[in-house]
Amino acid sequence: MIRKQIAAANWKMNLKWAQAEALLHDLFKVPLTISSNQYVALGVPFPYLSLALDYAKHNIRVDVAAQNSSQHQSGAYTGETSAEMLQSMGVHYVILGHSERREYFGETNALLAEKVKIALQNGLTPIFCCGESLDIRESGNQNQYVANQLKESLFDLSEFDFKKIVIAYEPIWAIGTGKTATAEQAQEMHAHLRSAIAVQYGSEIANGISILYGGSVKGANAKEIFGQPDVDGGLVGGASLKAEEFLQVIAGLKE
Ligand code: PGA
Repeated sequence: MIRKQIAAANWKMNLKWAQAEALLHDLFKVPLTISSNQYVALGVPFPYLSLALDYAKHNIRVDVAAQNSSQHQSGAYTGETSAEMLQSMGVHYVILGHSERREYFGETNALLAEKVKIALQNGLTPIFCCGESLDIRESGNQNQYVANQLKESLFDLSEFDFKKIVIAYEPIWAIGTGKTATAEQAQEMHAHLRSAIAVQYGSEIANGISILYGGSVKGANAKEIFGQPDVDGGLVGGASLKAEEFLQVIAGLKE
């Protein structure tokens, strides 16, 4: 498998400083056994980025992710964090377009297109999130809806830039609900997205893009979901807040 297999943690807005320290300590107290095509991303809140970077620097396949970044390059935007700042401190990834940001902070496909572009210009790798609500799933329009999220936010990118993107498919009805998509539902959507990418950029590029699944991934189900041919790892919320659980998720990555 040429595609990178990635276990990405998304801590969201959780943990106090001492808890964050303890979790990172527990995650790395035994050297991670991951093979050469497997990667870990630690998506931590902004105040903990430096701390996570300290742990990540000991393993070349462990990187740090921010959970958001500005659509602006720099300037008078109080409270915002730029891609340039993140890149300059050694952050590798930025999670963009998470459904919580779309829902609670009004992030649209058009805004996300801007954020993705600025992130790439500044050398960050976007983990671009997409996914449908339960209503859309029940109406049977999920494939078209999610492909359209990619189209409106990503398909203006050049081939050179698009190749750097990581995609995370996260059905909203599976996030934090304990209800995962079945391995078959995940595979079906991932294959659909990969073919939409192939239509736009050709099959060589489509076959090289890592597409992660997110939504109630945990130690016990990671291996089955990640074992699907078009699933290249996961974006993991709740289960990334417990060291043992996240280590099991990492262990579920394909070779
Ligand atoms: P969950 O969250 O693993 O807690 O369902 C996933 C996510 O929102 O990225």
